[in-house]
Order: sequence, then C-alpha cells, then structure tokens
Amino acid sequence: MTHAFGIDIGGSGIKGGLVDLKVGQLIGERCRLPTPQPATPKAVAKVVAKVIDHFGADTAGLPIGLTVPAIVTHGYTRSAANIDKKWIDAPVFEIFSTVLGRPVSVLNDADAAGLAEVHYGSARGNNGLVIVTTLGTGIGSALIYRGVLVPNAELGHIQIDGFEAEKRAAASVRTKEDLSWADFGKRLQEFYATVEFLFSPDLFVVGGGVSRNSDKFLPLLDLKTPIVPAALRNHAGIVGAAWAAAQAPVDPDR
Ligand code: BGC
Repeated sequence: MTHAFGIDIGGSGIKGGLVDLKVGQLIGERCRLPTPQPATPKAVAKVVAKVIDHFGADTAGLPIGLTVPAIVTHGYTRSAANIDKKWIDAPVFEIFSTVLGRPVSVLNDADAAGLAEVHYGSARGNNGLVIVTTLGTGIGSALIYRGVLVPNAELGHIQIDGFEAEKRAAASVRTKEDLSWADFGKRLQEFYATVEFLFSPDLFVVGGGVSRNSDKFLPLLDLKTPIVPAALRNHAGIVGAAWAAAQAPVDPDR
C-alpha cells in the first residue's frame, strides 16, 4: 500500500488529506472544515464525509484513518475530556463506517501523532521507549516501545500536586493564563520530570502548535532524557492516521 487517507478531528477543525506512505507526507493540499457545534459523533461524521468528498475519486479504495481526541477501544470512544460528552462510549467505528459507507480505522489523536513521529519524524530510528506529547487544548501522549504503540496512554491526566497535568501545562493554559515562557517552562518541567521518573523513556518528542516556539521553552527544561520538537507539526495526526489505516484490515475489536 503506497497511499492512504488520514483525517484529524480537532476541537475547531476537521482536516484531511491524501498521504504518501513512503515518505509520510501529504500529496497536494489538505482540506479543512470547521468542527460542527455541538460536535457530536454523528454531526462530526457528516463533516468528515464532506472532507472525503472534497477529494472525490482520489480516495476510492484507499484505507481511511481517523483521529479523535479521546480514548479508543474496540471501536468505541471512551472519554471526552475536551469534546462533546456524547463521545463517551459512542460506537464510533459503526457510526463512521455507516455515514461514510466504508470501514475506517479510528485511533486517539496523540497516538496517531506518535506513530507519525516514530515512522517519519523526530523519533525515526529510535529503538527504545519514545514518549510523544502534544501540547494543545489538552495534553495528548503516545507511548511507543521499539516501534510498537501501547495505545491510549493518557499522561495528560496524571495528577501532579493535586492538579491534572493538562490543566496546568497544556498550551491552551499558557494562553489563557498569559504565562511567560519561563512560567510555562516551570510547569512543563514538573510534567516531564514526573513522566520521566515514571517511565524512564529514551526520548521525548513535543508536538502541538506551540512546538513551533520550542526554542523558547525546551532549553529551560532540565531532564536526563533528550527532548526534541516534533517534525511533522500539524500534519502528524493526518499522516499517523493514514499510516495506521494502511497497516491492517480494519478490525474494530482491536
Ligand atoms: C484527551 C486525550 C487526547 C488529548 C489531546 C486529552 O484531554 O484525554 O485523549 O489525546 O487531550 O487531544
């Protein structure tokens, strides 16, 4: 399989594109439509169908992968930290496959970003434990050991000093509380030091929009583990979803 289609479902936009799996890059432009409000699974599925339609016959017969900002097990989403609560225990495999008229792979957004970074980006060639984090509205995380993803790690919800990590150190919190880079760095230090102690990773990769400014905060961190910005930036979700979809026939029980 040389091509697949990836879709990244976020709080404000739904982005999709054709992916060249040899190099992990988009072929042509991506398509972005606003996330419907309320962003229920069915409403989102209809917008996903429009994104796919935009590419017309180019997607015929291609595997389709979708990311969601939630825990995904056995074809169901199980959490909804920063999305509509209707995603909790929603049969997403069934909903999306029915609305789109074809089977789709569904996975957590940070897991998709992690797979993309391990196969094509900053963690390429690392054969140890890689932890990819995405700093955005919340904190997403992917745990990948020797190239194999341990799905649904939710490290953004680790409690540190009585607070969920993502409530203190997500990129959205920096904006909302108007934190200086130094103060944001202190909060990230607490988060990454805790994760480092718990997992002893070989590499941290930092993604999410704020990673564009990684030179402002990564040098402030004092960790034993190397920590580097993500390479795929805001295409990581699309690329990782496409990669995951191409791996195996869709198996909702996985
Ligand atoms: C969710 C994760 C998601 C992350 C990034 C967290 O609040 O619990 O499932 O990966 O946000 O969107």
